[in-house]
Amino acid sequence: MKGVILSGGHGTRLRPLTHTGPKQLIPIANKPVIDYAIEDLRNVGITEIGIILGTNMPNKIKDALGDGSKYGVNITYIMQGEPKGLAHAAKTAKDFVDGDSFVMYLGDNILKSSIKDFVSEFDDSDFSSRLLLQEVADPRQFGVAELNDEGKIINLVEKPEHPKSNLALVGIYLFKNNIFEAIDKIKPSWRNELEITDAIQQLIDDGYDVDSFVVEGWWKDTGKPEDVLDANQLILETLKTDIQGIVEDDVKIKGRVVIGEGTVIKSGSVIKGPTIIGKNCEIKGYVGPYTSIGDNTKIIESEIDSSIVIGDSVIQSNKRITESLIGQNSKIITDKKTYPKGRSFVIGENTIITL
Ligand code: DAU
Repeated sequence: MKGVILSGGHGTRLRPLTHTGPKQLIPIANKPVIDYAIEDLRNVGITEIGIILGTNMPNKIKDALGDGSKYGVNITYIMQGEPKGLAHAAKTAKDFVDGDSFVMYLGDNILKSSIKDFVSEFDDSDFSSRLLLQEVADPRQFGVAELNDEGKIINLVEKPEHPKSNLALVGIYLFKNNIFEAIDKIKPSWRNELEITDAIQQLIDDGYDVDSFVVEGWWKDTGKPEDVLDANQLILETLKTDIQGIVEDDVKIKGRVVIGEGTVIKSGSVIKGPTIIGKNCEIKGYVGPYTSIGDNTKIIESEIDSSIVIGDSVIQSNKRITESLIGQNSKIITDKKTYPKGRSFVIGENTIITL
């Protein structure tokens, strides 16, 4: 079995962050979101992984992931170009898949539990596809599945206005080779994309069996800033304390905290876990809970919680920053003492904000 991770798309809902890089590289607990997909595949023994690249700075993905050896996998890059839909992306992987079965994993999805039980025994089964599902409160923003009593999928609709169930398609799919014939039969949808849901519906219409697997534990599609912050919070819940940097006297550390090599936590600071602070940072202030601070960041006399600072940034704000996503190489500097309490930001790379 092979793995195909989709890493194209424009990431419009994450602008301005995606003006300077693909959304799959946004860090969750200081690790690009796509790393979680690679590790999930590797942990079930899938080491041949195709990464589908789009037009939004694909070289940044190549630079970040390399040949895959640092994860213990072999990565093959596959150029999709313009995002013409998930089924179109799958089709570009046909040569790479080369007759094997494969897991298709959306590169901005993150799952608490392993895909182990989901993939088990698929190759030996009569099913042409198996879909990972989860019950959600509002299924209208997802692909939605209707099942029969045996758990077989009987109907699939992409983002329906009137969903027939509350079972959303998690962006992780299992396919055999006949998915490519189904893709060849479908037409672009109203949003002019070749939808994978339509291709799977085509399989069903052609008489093939499609199985389902309802996943336990949380799942996040990190397509929007609030989802990125939620995913960060969920991953940080699993953090284990590891302090490599220097913690000066008179620092309060509460809860589970990771502090990277070369980082200095200055006297008088409070770090509240779960929080991760990368390498070579200088921190003086109040950080956390649920905060990820990337490498080479300076927090100067400031308070920040429930946020992601991607890295190489300076924050010197006289009021607390909360629920913010701060792009690489940004500066937030307050020069007035009168600014109202609590600030929330989504800030792209190379930004300077003076409050
Ligand atoms: O997150 C789960 C949902 O993902 C499913 O419930 C839906 O059925 C499925 O269509 C998909 O919906 P989204 O609207 O969230 O898909 P999005 O356009 O955000 O693309 C998902 C990922 O695939 C993202 O990492 C970008 C990548 N992508 C997307 C397209 C359209 C590509 O690599 N190529 C593409 O052509």
